[in-house]
Amino acid sequence: MDLRIKSFEEYKAKYKASVDNPDAFWDEIAKTFTWKKPYEKVCDYNFIKADIKWFVNGKLNITENVLDRHLEKRGDKIALLWEPNNPTEKHQEITYRKLYERVCEFSNALKAQGIKKGDRVVLYMPMVPELAIACLACARIGAIHSVVFAGFSAVAMADRINDSQAKMVITADGLNRGPKQIPLKEVVDEALKSCTTIETVIVFNCLNRNITMQAGRDLWWHNTIEGMPKVCPAEEMDSEDMLFILYTSGSTGKPKGVVHTHGGYMVYTTYTFQNVFQYEENDVYWCTADIGWITGHSYIVYGPLSSGATSVMFEGVPSFPDAGRFWQICEKHKVNQFYTAPTAIRALMACGNEHVTSANLDSLKLIGSVGEPINEEAWQWYYKEVGKEKIPVIDTWWQTENGGIMISGLGGYSPMKPTFAGYPLPGIQPCLMGQDGKEITEANQEGHLCIKYPWPSIIRTTYGDHERCILTYFTAYKNHYFTGDGAKRDENGMYRIIGRVDDVINVSGHRFGTAEIEDAINSSELVVESAVVGYPHAIKGQGIYAFVVCDKLPENNSEAEGKIIASVTKQIGKIANPEKIQFVSDLPKTRSGKIMRRILRKIAEGEVKNIGDTSTLLNPDVVEDIVKGALH
Ligand code: WT7
Repeated sequence: MDLRIKSFEEYKAKYKASVDNPDAFWDEIAKTFTWKKPYEKVCDYNFIKADIKWFVNGKLNITENVLDRHLEKRGDKIALLWEPNNPTEKHQEITYRKLYERVCEFSNALKAQGIKKGDRVVLYMPMVPELAIACLACARIGAIHSVVFAGFSAVAMADRINDSQAKMVITADGLNRGPKQIPLKEVVDEALKSCTTIETVIVFNCLNRNITMQAGRDLWWHNTIEGMPKVCPAEEMDSEDMLFILYTSGSTGKPKGVVHTHGGYMVYTTYTFQNVFQYEENDVYWCTADIGWITGHSYIVYGPLSSGATSVMFEGVPSFPDAGRFWQICEKHKVNQFYTAPTAIRALMACGNEHVTSANLDSLKLIGSVGEPINEEAWQWYYKEVGKEKIPVIDTWWQTENGGIMISGLGGYSPMKPTFAGYPLPGIQPCLMGQDGKEITEANQEGHLCIKYPWPSIIRTTYGDHERCILTYFTAYKNHYFTGDGAKRDENGMYRIIGRVDDVINVSGHRFGTAEIEDAINSSELVVESAVVGYPHAIKGQGIYAFVVCDKLPENNSEAEGKIIASVTKQIGKIANPEKIQFVSDLPKTRSGKIMRRILRKIAEGEVKNIGDTSTLLNPDVVEDIVKGALH
């Protein structure tokens, strides 16, 4: 079913209709999907209690929409086009029929291992087709998947397993990352030392590494599917049954499990995929994200496949074997829509244009960006060097909690303005809130970005702690969803996202809470206390700057740094390692003992002339010392 809007005029009309009568708007879209039993009501919600239901009492299984409904027309069409890390290895073309069979086969394997509707399954996997297959197999039998990005540490994985009380882990012996092989199974073994709920570990053989398998617990993927039928009835799910949990960082120490459900998530990811990317039947679409993050869930797996698209999945990294790899893949598979992150664009921009000019990029029709604000320079380079000034660049703003793209350029027909994400998708009602808690209606004012009305894939709860969901998203502004981002709207109604207004740092498009990193730093025996802030970083967008207080100032800075970095790697993973560590004698605090992050942020940014008033501090002298020792 083609759900596309094809002109800016049509967008404006549809947008208006979606605000005037949201139920009628979404009903028309949702009707086009396969339901086992139709819904009785489109939407029921209460933002005060964070109680939100879409397609009420409808019964479905998302995988029937992702797989079964395409078999007749698109059985032989490529669903997943897998490109290996090593370019000399053969790529894989998995048709809709083949994907259906492989998902069914693995669904039966999961059932044979005792996985039932409602059970949680943690996935810690390389970017191989088996990761997508495992997600879909869980969904098919009603199990709830929780993908943990394969760069997280054993401690981080154990936290997620314990929070979700998962019964099974699906992993691999290891993964390919450019020239390196990274072990995975050992990390799982380490994590499971502090977990009691896991009964089975299924291990996909990716690298032929020699690993230990624990008898009675660990099974090889290929053995579990032996003799399994290639059909498996899809479990009947309620629209509001959980589809997956994805952990993401917030402003407090513990990551929270964002919950998405079958019905609304399906409708919204499919609708936005088709509209933002303007996918046409024979196009090849590629999103470079990892399925460990929401972008991969929504725009490699569910949205594209539910639309019957050919979705490229890449195992490797942009820099291997050289910085032209992305463009070589675009040429090789004649990619039409390409979706990546500003951090990758900036890193490749720094490697020189010859990598781009040496590839034939004529197939590209649209290029997209996601994960953090894209700066003007990176936008221009992307538009000129990759898009040859001929095709639209779309900047898509959204969040794990949103499930799908919220504010964005629309498939090329809406106006483009570098550093502005653009317009809200139909059905999305953003607004800007001022310090006084009132809505800002004038143009070009900065405010807190909120959403006034639910959309189908809005977060339903934070797993196991609904109160936290209410507090984080629905308390700051009554009857509004609060995004945690600051934004501006121009006189034409286009939105520019400025960045987080809470204690969240966005490093290369990955989210970390400052408290989470501080907890990790503080777990080092050297450390008394610490404060972490973000600072502008040329490639990563933001870098992590840590101010650390030890018992006494370390004699050997690099040794102490090494220990602190080791703590962060152990607690969270290398992806959260601070770039800069400054040892300080004390942290600037208010009289009530609160760390003044505002001051530390200024110092980290190098804005030392602009620090502002420090006279109300408990310890104003320390600011001068910190400024003197600042790392630039
Ligand atoms: C935060 C969400 C969902 C995509 C992957 C990140 C920032 C995301 C943009 C953009 C400016 C952006 C926001 C948001 N962000 N996309 N196009 N322009 N900022 O998902 O980890 O849930 O992070 O990423 O600050 O709140 P996430």
